[in-house]
Amino acid sequence: MFDTNPFHDLLGFLTPAAMQMYVVLMLLAVVAGTIIDVIHKKSAQYFFENAQKAEKSAKRTLNGGEKASLAISTLTNEILTSSEFCNPHRRMSHLLTMYGFIIFVVTTATLIFAYPTPAEATPGMLVALWHLGALMVCIGGYWFWFFIRVDLNSEGNPWYRLVRADLFVLSLLATTTFALLWSFGQPYVGWGTLFFGLFILSSTVLFCGVLWSKFAHMFFKPAAAYQKKLTKADGSQENLPDVGELTDPAVQAKYPDIPTYMGEKPPYMGLGIKRESPNHY
Ligand code: HEM
Repeated sequence: MFDTNPFHDLLGFLTPAAMQMYVVLMLLAVVAGTIIDVIHKKSAQYFFENAQKAEKSAKRTLNGGEKASLAISTLTNEILTSSEFCNPHRRMSHLLTMYGFIIFVVTTATLIFAYPTPAEATPGMLVALWHLGALMVCIGGYWFWFFIRVDLNSEGNPWYRLVRADLFVLSLLATTTFALLWSFGQPYVGWGTLFFGLFILSSTVLFCGVLWSKFAHMFFKPAAAYQKKLTKADGSQENLPDVGELTDPAVQAKYPDIPTYMGEKPPYMGLGIKRESPNHY
């Protein structure tokens, strides 16, 4: 199976140009969906106004080197290693979904554009990576859907309860699941055609549904994470009061209750966020 480009199976009824056109249309749908989303929710306007406000209350100006180092730390932490997730299961599931999706998208485009017909021998490694990417999304995504989601794990809602916010994860899972089923079902004519139809339907929903789904978070979250780092580094602190370091004697003298509650030996105040996760519904 890994020595056959799955898209060559479609050549009986689809031309390579038609497949390439579909990929380009989906790319344009994502770009258009993201731009309309930004305009409709006025998120870019809010983001830049907020950034300007923060800049005004900045305690110091960051130089280019400091900004570059914050950008690199956003790349290596929040983006490449999903460091925002405190729950290690959620982080692992996000890493699987994210890298799986990237591998799946890149290999799909390569298979369709670089190896459109059997005349160009498709490397088996590329086909194997296409399957691996889809499988990684399925493992990370189903793990998230059936076990990790907060409305299921902490609120006790059944796994089949759907809300609009689920559009992204469900269309993503449907796309990779039907891609795999289509690939495995190709020798069986009826099944192959059915799964291919469902694969195209779900991928169209995934890429054309950006305006209504969480798809665009993959572009917005990195910008938000970087902005958050800037506000910490320049002292603007998202316009929250800067109380200083709580262990600093000067700060403790200014706020006399701090030594009692947050001094070197604070009283026991319970487990806080280390408590048992709320799942006794
Ligand atoms: C190929 C790229 C990515 C994929 C496929 C992906 C996938 C997902 C999925 C399936 C969820 C759960 C959505 C849900 O609650 O329904 C999620 C949530 C999240 N992702 Fe990503 N992600 C990607 C990129 C990124 C990047 C680059 C960042 C950060 C820099 C990020 C940060 C987050 C955060 C913080 C959440 C949890 C908050 C929320 O649910 O809104 N993701 N992602």
